[in-house]
Amino acid sequence: MLIKSRRGWEIPERDVTPEAVFLSRRALLGAGAGLIGASALPGSAFAQATAGAADPSAGLYPVARNPRYTLDRPLTPETAASSVNNYYEFGTNYDVAKAAAKLKRRPWVVTIDGLVEKPMQVGIDDLLKAMPLEERVYRHRCVEAWSMAVPWSGFPMKALVDYARPLGSAKFVRMETFLDKEVAPGQSGRFYPWPYVEGLTLAEANNELAFLVTGIYGKPAPNQFGAPLRLATPWKYGFKSIKAIVKFTFVEQKPKTFWETVQSAEYGFWANVNPQVPHARWSQATEKDIATGERRPTLLYNGYGEFVADLYSAPAFKSEKLWM
Ligand code: MTE
Repeated sequence: MLIKSRRGWEIPERDVTPEAVFLSRRALLGAGAGLIGASALPGSAFAQATAGAADPSAGLYPVARNPRYTLDRPLTPETAASSVNNYYEFGTNYDVAKAAAKLKRRPWVVTIDGLVEKPMQVGIDDLLKAMPLEERVYRHRCVEAWSMAVPWSGFPMKALVDYARPLGSAKFVRMETFLDKEVAPGQSGRFYPWPYVEGLTLAEANNELAFLVTGIYGKPAPNQFGAPLRLATPWKYGFKSIKAIVKFTFVEQKPKTFWETVQSAEYGFWANVNPQVPHARWSQATEKDIATGERRPTLLYNGYGEFVADLYSAPAFKSEKLWM
């Protein structure tokens, strides 16, 4: 996702950083078979990575797995998934676990506003009590052509939409990440349009696959996964899955997202996975398993077409760039 960097080891900041340059630097870190191997994690970093156990909601987990969602590949080991994360608020490398551990996840107030019957603020623990928690195993495909498969815990986004009671005029949900430069050093950078913003149509948010994540591997999610509340939309590239959400705003117009603001020619609103439509700078035909380093063919809608293809069948979508 790196578009432009202010770091000394990159090219001058007036230039766009080619993804290949960025990825090759990451490859240096991760080497050989995959990215940063879990075994490379120092003990303290792994402790940070698994710190979810100290969360006040820990007693809620594990939750029952919903058997409707199945995988065509093994689950990614926790140690590997916990050490390869994209979270620009805490750095542009994958090893953000230690930096992200500084984010305080309580108190955590979620604002629901915009075109709703009654705007409200709700604490995360009250929200957790009100939502039907379950576990789902999902594939997770980053636009950078790496992937994993993880057991998220959380609740269907539809339950949040119902809880919010949107007005008939609401067509989209805009989501926003926290903003705190003291805690998140990345947010001091002037190049990126903080806070991180994402959006879905109301129909996408109500699709059964859209999932709000609060836990992973049977416990509260460690911070680097976007605790205490992040999105998982497994048919879309991973950048749609906004982390550490503090606000849901129901709106009539399509919201402008973080990555669209940075580079609209490469990262659009829809971002549906399609192996036949390359990114402007690399192919999307295959993806690299972050744990094994194996390459496998990428699937249309990341293999979730049966659930979501209908969302985009109306003639109006013919003119939309659904794959970026
Ligand atoms: N959300 C926020 N707030 N900040 C980010 O930098 N990165 C996105 C997405 N959500 C990001 C974010 C990208 S590019 C990806 S691929 C996924 O988070 C990565 O999720 P993971 O670290 O759980 O694999």
